[in-house]
Amino acid sequence: MAITLTMLKPDAVADGHTGKIIDMIIQSGFKIQAMKLTRLSKEKAEEFYAIHKERSFFGELIAFMTEGPIVAAILEKDNAVEDFRKLIGATNPEKADAGTIRKLFAANIERNAIHGSDSDANAEIEAKFHFSGLERF
Ligand code: RTP
Ligand code: MG
Repeated sequence: MAITLTMLKPDAVADGHTGKIIDMIIQSGFKIQAMKLTRLSKEKAEEFYAIHKERSFFGELIAFMTEGPIVAAILEKDNAVEDFRKLIGATNPEKADAGTIRKLFAANIERNAIHGSDSDANAEIEAKFHFSGLERF
């Protein structure tokens, strides 16, 4: 069975959207393999988003991702990566389809409520970044 790694970002958690978003994820057929409330340090956020370190928005991205707690989770489903990116919608909520998590809960392209892995290989790397084997069920 495939997995993907999600983070409910600091905006979504601070705005009280955690329960609604987790419910949408479960109702869409994803099984929760691991989940926790945590907070990224600057160093950990820079490591997680290292692929974007040359981008103009990197500093703002790190400030945003460290401003408060997140909910990290490993989700299991056939075709998990692609199906989850469909559920969350486009990076820019203005371009996200109706009914997607970002359309419903994201303010803009930076503060966009939720993360989803972009490949099976990155899903496994990101799952191990957040969770030990003992935390996965
Ligand atoms: P994510 O990795 O968080 O799931 O988002 P994504 O794949 O849809 O988008 P990605 O290109 O990987 O960008 C990572 C995060 O950086 C912020 N961002 N800001 N100001 C901008 O133009 C801009 N572009 C991206 C967003 O928080 C985005 O989710
Ligand atoms: Mg991405």
